[in-house]
Amino acid sequence: MKIFIDTANIKMIEEINSWGILDGVTTNPSLIAKEGTDLKKCVSQIAKIVDGPISAEAISLTAPEMIKEGRELAKIHENINVKLPMCIESLKATKVLSSEGIDVNMTLIFSPQQAILASKSGARYVSPFIGRLDDIGQSGSDMLIQTVMAFRNYDIDTEIIAASIRHPMHVIEAAIAGADIATIPYDILKKMVSHPKTDEGIQLFLKDHEKSKK
Ligand code: E4P
Repeated sequence: MKIFIDTANIKMIEEINSWGILDGVTTNPSLIAKEGTDLKKCVSQIAKIVDGPISAEAISLTAPEMIKEGRELAKIHENINVKLPMCIESLKATKVLSSEGIDVNMTLIFSPQQAILASKSGARYVSPFIGRLDDIGQSGSDMLIQTVMAFRNYDIDTEIIAASIRHPMHVIEAAIAGADIATIPYDILKKMVSHPKTDEGIQLFLKDHEKSKK
């Protein structure tokens, strides 16, 4: 499973990239606003750091406007893909953008049927939101499993990005479901590294090493 970071924070991206495990980055308008930055400036900075796909979300509401905005975003760097929210206008825009070789990440996916339509329109990625479905008492994990199984049945090559990941267990659920990618917030990536028994083991080995020198 590929690992993306879900943030627009440059310092966090630099740090996680330095671990050598980062395959790409997703941003969204809320994450951009949180950093008080501008989308184009932010994604061009990210492209200098990470050698992998970077999602930049369009905010247009009609297909012609999405196509125009998508073309502009794609010009920023060859690794930029255009994130469009699942709706009829996005399907139309994706058909055009994908035919021009511009990758689209269809976001705000909450059902396998939405994912199937997104893949039919030519989306390179679909982003099922696990956490936000759990929030309303439905199973994000089940929705992800169904999406992966449906895509496998037809050898659909659209990549599935498990999104809206809220805790390390969601990462395990994404991996067991067979998602191609998990896009993970910074604090969860940090939590994934740690285990109390690992910390305890390191301390014990160091202590025993010191003893053996005496
Ligand atoms: C996906 O690309 C989105 O940016 C993200 O995963 C949304 O997560 P949230 O539901 O925690 O806001």
